[in-house]
Amino acid sequence: MLKIAPSILAADFSKLAEEVKCVDSLGADYIHIDVMDGHFVPNITLGPGIVKCLRPHTELPFDVHLMIENPDQYIKDFKEAGADIITVHVEACRHLHRTLQLIKQYEMQCGVVLNPHTPLEMIKHVLQEVDWILIMSVNPGFGGQTFIPDSLNKIATLNQWRQEQNLSYVIEVDGGVNEETARLCEEAGADVVVAGSAVFNAVDRQLAIQKIKG
Ligand code: DX5
Ligand code: ZN
Repeated sequence: MLKIAPSILAADFSKLAEEVKCVDSLGADYIHIDVMDGHFVPNITLGPGIVKCLRPHTELPFDVHLMIENPDQYIKDFKEAGADIITVHVEACRHLHRTLQLIKQYEMQCGVVLNPHTPLEMIKHVLQEVDWILIMSVNPGFGGQTFIPDSLNKIATLNQWRQEQNLSYVIEVDGGVNEETARLCEEAGADVVVAGSAVFNAVDRQLAIQKIKG
């Protein structure tokens, strides 16, 4: 069964704590938090201050997806705010290996994210370092976009590499995930899917979460 990380990007920002508690009670496994800086991606969302405010409202792990330039500068702040997992974009990290070490120094799980155009070869030499690999199945910046099918090839290859090299990183997929695309991700070897609009905009959120998990 897939695990699900609802993305609060699609939640009602005027009542974020209730939205987090809602998906927690309905079977979410993680809370996915999209941090955008208006530079790496053309949108601005939220920072460590809001993460800190949400922390008392759930015991679910916070999966913090940093879509920002210079992520090293903010790792400590997100740790102090209550992040459990931090994923950084390979495209935003000049010294990716160092950034991953920094996240681990702060005793969080570390992950790397690849945009749809970025080849898997870019992370071949950090596979041993990462706890998570996040495959973007849309271009980052906005919720509600359509799943890019080529992402499935990347998931399958990562799953194959994981078996061949006896590694244990979690494979997560983000963007355009709904009941149908979740099954394709699962078949390809994904472990966790992020879902924003498919959960928060659903009439029956519980059913949406159940169906995505499979
Ligand atoms: C996009 C974000 C996603 C987004 C997914 O940049 O990283 O997490 O919230 O939204 P949906 O599930 O609506 O595609
Ligand atoms: Zn995300």
